[in-house]
Amino acid sequence: MPLMSTLDIAFVGCGAIAEYHLAGVKELGDRARVTALVDLNRSRAEQLAQEADGDPAIYGTLDEALAAGGFDAVVLMLPHDLHEPCSMACFDAGKHLLLEKPLGRTLEECMRICDAAAKTDTVFLVGENTPHWEAVKRARALVEEGAIGEIIAADSCYIGSYDTTWWPPGSWRLDKERTGGGFSIDGGTHWIRPLRHWIGRVSQVIAATGRPIEIMEGESLNNSIWRFASGAVATFRGLIVDAPVGPTTWYRVTGTKGQFAIDTDLFSGDAVLQLFNHEHPEGTVVTRSGGYFSAFIPQMADFVSTVLDGTAPLAGPDEAIGDLEVIWAMYRSVESGQWEEVRG
Ligand SMILES: NC(=O)c1ccc[n+]([C@@H]2O[C@H](COP(=O)([O-])OP(=O)(O)OC[C@H]3O[C@@H](n4cnc5c(N)ncnc54)[C@H](O)[C@@H]3O)[C@@H](O)[C@H]2O)c1
Repeated sequence: MPLMSTLDIAFVGCGAIAEYHLAGVKELGDRARVTALVDLNRSRAEQLAQEADGDPAIYGTLDEALAAGGFDAVVLMLPHDLHEPCSMACFDAGKHLLLEKPLGRTLEECMRICDAAAKTDTVFLVGENTPHWEAVKRARALVEEGAIGEIIAADSCYIGSYDTTWWPPGSWRLDKERTGGGFSIDGGTHWIRPLRHWIGRVSQVIAATGRPIEIMEGESLNNSIWRFASGAVATFRGLIVDAPVGPTTWYRVTGTKGQFAIDTDLFSGDAVLQLFNHEHPEGTVVTRSGGYFSAFIPQMADFVSTVLDGTAPLAGPDEAIGDLEVIWAMYRSVESGQWEEVRG
């Protein structure tokens, strides 16, 4: 593979999430640049081009962009039903790939993508920003230092107002076939990954779902309980509602010696990690760091460094499958009305 000092990247899909990945590229200075923008909706690519440095080429389809060339890597930010065919096209063209989550809608799709990736000598990563998030990383350090003892229980929660930024009328995201489900497969990984990161393997789940957002075919409500291999038990509450709502604590983890909690909001500029234990019975702020979207900056740095420097990425595609196994088990539980084993 030729040595490169700057990674030329094509953004494929210039929708809601693209601006956060672009911020990650811009932060890297000479190490990376966006040289191509691809979107069926040309105006979205043109809009993003105004924020990008340089003068990226604009294409309507991935095939057109691959035929023209001019980039070594792709950040794929497309509807979930396009993840498999477009990843395959990138592998065939020898491009490094950062594929936005979820890896696929089914285990079969995921395995086909991973098998094809394994036959290339290029980098393949699946986007999941939370492990790169300062608040989540600092919380892991607290667990490793024993600041809260053995973890007994955790609560993870997202309750957000219906927002047309993510769910515009007519969006693919309202279509169960195109997403692979509802809120859980679309956003659940942002709660599953941190809990797996801190507590380990989820072994069993039981879930109850609902559809308060009627135009969304998949679930917009998921209240679940997860049992971990360690014996710890967690709750996951995900809800999108077409009404104003107050703030919630995203993660609260309780151990034999104390507790930590991360308070934030999707669009809030910061995340506050607090620790409560015998040393700090009233609680202490461990860190007040960047909010949810700040994690896209180190995530892009990790991808670019994996390609340019050959460093090991923070997480491989197997972690993405691990998250999906929890999601698919929750979906099986809704069907069976019972606890379901998490495969893997
Ligand atoms: N990590 C996160 O927090 C996060 C948040 C939102 C979305 N995502 C993921 O990012 C991906 C994209 O989501 P989004 O919110 O940006 O969606 P979006 O609908 O806002 O954007 C998708 C874009 O893809 C374009 N498109 C559709 N089909 C195309 C095709 N065949 N060729 C070229 N362009 C095409 C659309 O015109 C649209 O502009 C999804 O995988 C989603 O799950 C991740």
